Amino acid sequence: MSTPTLPILLFAVFASLFASTRCDHQSQKDAALFIFGDSVNDAGTNNYINTTAFFRANFPPYGETFFRYPTGRFTNGRLIVDFIAEYANLPLIPPYIQMKDGDFMGGANFASAGAGALVDTYKGYVVDLKMQLKQLEQLEKKLRKEMGSEKAKGIIKEGVYLISIGSSDYGAALFDPALFQSLSMEDYVGMVIGNITTVLQGIYKVGGRKFAMIGIGQLGCVPSMRILTRNGACSDEANKLAKLHNVALTAILAKLETQLQGFEYSYFDYYTTGSERIQYPSKYGFKEGKTACCGSGPYRGNSTCGGQRGVKEYSLCRHPEKYVFFDADHASERANRQFAQLMWNGSPSVIRPHNLKALFKHEGA
Ligand SMILES: *[C@@H]1O[C@H](CO)[C@@H](O)[C@H](O)[C@H]1NC(C)=O
Ligand SMILES: *[C@@H]1O[C@H](CO)[C@@H](O)[C@H](O)[C@H]1NC(C)=O
Ligand SMILES: *[C@@H]1O[C@H](CO)[C@@H](O)[C@H](O)[C@H]1NC(C)=O
Repeated sequence: MSTPTLPILLFAVFASLFASTRCDHQSQKDAALFIFGDSVNDAGTNNYINTTAFFRANFPPYGETFFRYPTGRFTNGRLIVDFIAEYANLPLIPPYIQMKDGDFMGGANFASAGAGALVDTYKGYVVDLKMQLKQLEQLEKKLRKEMGSEKAKGIIKEGVYLISIGSSDYGAALFDPALFQSLSMEDYVGMVIGNITTVLQGIYKVGGRKFAMIGIGQLGCVPSMRILTRNGACSDEANKLAKLHNVALTAILAKLETQLQGFEYSYFDYYTTGSERIQYPSKYGFKEGKTACCGSGPYRGNSTCGGQRGVKEYSLCRHPEKYVFFDADHASERANRQFAQLMWNGSPSVIRPHNLKALFKHEGA
């Protein structure tokens, strides 16, 4: 029998020290990421709810590029939020609906494809934004029980709340021909923004202080919109809604900052960054900015990717990284990576007043 030699003992001591500081580092120092909204952010929530294939992406070829299996993300690989988690030194953030008690590691994802700020948007098929807020309230209670009030409070307060919402409200409205006969676009946008504001105030009430809002992209120029217009032009109506929304959203964020003590935010100009890539794909390393990689019909603008949505036939490109759009409504992983990078350390021309790198670092007021 020999006693362990000094180097081995030392190694053991250092290894355990390293392990514990690493662990503490992740759970205490790095701000958590709480994710809300629609298919831009959904990492698999809708796999667990009673919905239809239109609101799901848990079949091939979704996920083929990075995960090598369909996770429920509406893209070939990772989402914007996956890259943000990586930049923030966090693990991939799992869907809240999939988490078990005691599982909390760096955040939770409440986003549900098709969800809107309005409860009526695709009602019965999605987890709407208000319900997502209720789930955050549930999670906060669980954290208090599991780790004590003080620690839970710190996690909620230092966390970043990353939200993408509104596209589904406008998408649903555009397919309802009667709607804008009884309601102006401005009034509809006002209703969407009003409901978003209520949820932001709700998150603030739970204790959240740092908000990252993804604006609406160039909705009228996604492949699924181009098949509704003459000659594949962008839909002016959809683009108008997106612009009205973004103007109203930035105004309400600036207002909340003055009204709510300690409220901090980042607004990402998804419209400009998206339209740049749609218009000048080669400038950003893409080959194609109008046609999707996966789908059918002109511009592959029919949302048949995967053959599970009532139509079996669809085409799939060989190199999704050459496309801005993976399917008729959603960006490719490569585009998502570029958006995430801009959100993380971009200039105020695209992410303002702070980028996410700064927002994550700020000590709560
Ligand atoms: C799911 O929804 C379908 C149609 O809306 C319904 O027939 C079915 O009973 C639901 N299933 C569950 C488990 O709620
Ligand atoms: C929220 O949306 C509903 C319609 O779903 C609307 O009646 C209500 O006025 C909106 N709330 C706010 C604060 O704008
Ligand atoms: C999508 O394709 C199917 C089958 O070809 C067709 O029935 C449907 O009308 C198409 N949808 C659109 C929006 O073009």
